[in-house]
Amino acid sequence: MIKVSKSSDKQLKKFGQAEWPFADKEHYGKQVNYNVKEFVYKATDNNKIVGSIKGKLEAGVLYIDYLIVAHDKTGQGIGKALTQKLETKAKKLGAHKFHLITGKGWLAEKFYQVLGYKPIAILSKHHFKKDFVVYEKLI
Ligand SMILES: CC(C)(COP(=O)(O)OP(=O)(O)OC[C@H]1O[C@@H](n2cnc3c(N)ncnc32)[C@H](O)[C@@H]1OP(=O)(O)O)[C@@H](O)C(=O)NCCC(=O)NCCS
Repeated sequence: MIKVSKSSDKQLKKFGQAEWPFADKEHYGKQVNYNVKEFVYKATDNNKIVGSIKGKLEAGVLYIDYLIVAHDKTGQGIGKALTQKLETKAKKLGAHKFHLITGKGWLAEKFYQVLGYKPIAILSKHHFKKDFVVYEKLI
C-alpha cells in the first residue's frame, strides 16, 4: 500500500539523483545537468547596505529574485547596477535567458522595461490574489 509522508531534503535529493536521469532522457533525449548556481549581491554606500539582489542560474536560465533598493536611495542607479552585475555573472556562466516576475502596475515594471525586459505573460491572481507579469530578456 502506498503511504505518503514527510520527507527530508536529503532523501528527496538522493531519490531524485537516481530517478531524474530517466525522465531527463525522455524530456531532452539525453542526460542533462541543470548546473544550479545561486548568487547574492549587495550595494553599499559608506559600508551601509542600500540594495540587494538574488539570482539563481538553472539550465541556462537566470531567475532574478529579491531585488530591493532602500526606499530613500531609489533613482540613483543602484537597482540597475545590481541587476547588471547579476546578468553579467550569469552570462559569463552561459545563461541564454533572464527571467523574473513582478507585480502588474508596480513601478518596477518600468524599471525592467528600461533594462530591456519584455512582458511575456500575466499570472492572474498570483501573490495575495494580485496579478503579476512575467518578464524575460533573451540574450
Ligand atoms: C524597482 C527598483 C529595484 C528600481 O531600483 P532603482 O535603483 O530605483 O532604479 P535605477 O535608479 O537603477 O533605475 C534604472 C533605470 O530604470 C528607470 N526607472 C527606475 N524606476 C523607475 C520608475 N519608477 N519609473 C520610471 N523609470 C524608472 C530609471 O529611470 C533608470 O533609467 P536610466 O538608466 O535610463 O536612467 C526600486 O525602486 C525598488 O527597490 N523598488 C521596491 C522593490 C521592488 O519593487 N523590487 C522589484 C520587485 S520584482
